[in-house]
Amino acid sequence: MKDFLEWAKPGSGEARLASLLDPSAFPRHIAVIMDGNGRWARKRHLPRVAGHRAGVKSVREIIEASCRLQIRALTLYAFSMENWKRPQAEVETLWGLLQHYLHRELPELKRNGVRMQVIGRIDGLPASVRDDLDMAMVETAANSGLQLTIALNYGGRAEIVDAVNSLLARARKLDGLFKINEQILSEHLYTAGLPDPDLLIRTSGEMRVSNFLLWQIAYAEIFVTDKFWPDFCTMDLLEALLDYQKRERRYGGLSDSTQAPEPDPELVAVNGAESTADAAAGDRPSSSLHP
Ligand code: FPP
Repeated sequence: MKDFLEWAKPGSGEARLASLLDPSAFPRHIAVIMDGNGRWARKRHLPRVAGHRAGVKSVREIIEASCRLQIRALTLYAFSMENWKRPQAEVETLWGLLQHYLHRELPELKRNGVRMQVIGRIDGLPASVRDDLDMAMVETAANSGLQLTIALNYGGRAEIVDAVNSLLARARKLDGLFKINEQILSEHLYTAGLPDPDLLIRTSGEMRVSNFLLWQIAYAEIFVTDKFWPDFCTMDLLEALLDYQKRERRYGGLSDSTQAPEPDPELVAVNGAESTADAAAGDRPSSSLHP
């Protein structure tokens, strides 16, 4: 955060918004559905790939801002399993942009202490893309700054299926003497070792999670902005953080202000403990039952 405040021009919008943030309450992990590249381009009468090219600039800016803010983990949804349905030329351009990005930005990622990893069905990617990703992962493996995860050929349901299959293989080895729980399943997801996202950002106004980190976002706060991804900048990230810090996270429990009061001992004596407890339960907001 100190780094960010030194970087932001005094009196700028970034400096003003950053001064309103509490760095001790930052999300540990931010996940982003980068959407709207095509619409950004269409609005400008440009080909769709121009939107993807402009989207890379936002990728660079948001990674840099996350480093300066000392966010621990950032996951970007760059290519879903469904994205193969797009015209081949667009898909190839996306791989080209990713490879170009890796070659150009690797020195900067290393300087900023970024550790990069990839999630998804990586075996399905073109070999040269896999090679470049491997190189970036090896070269940043010893870094301890921002954990940057890029989701490629990723699907949330496929991830759960892969985890279950890996658990089945383990169970077979143990002659089926094996029971799974939430922690064990989490440890078999592609994101093993990462905290679940606290904040999920989606650009371009769509109210969908699009098969992204389905298990992991169970309790994430969701921030949707109408801006298209190529227009998403540091100011928008700060707005999302500010919005996040205003949320009350209850994880299915009650907030402090709606916490049911302890039964009044005198009332208990008159009415009996059970009826008092029923009355207190009736006062609870319904949202406490459904997180
Ligand atoms: C969604 O916009 C965006 C994508 C499917 C690709 C995202 C890729 C990048 C930003 C560039 C490469 C990434 C890295 C990590 C360097 P859309 O095409 O679905 O937009 P639309 O909904 O308006 O058509």
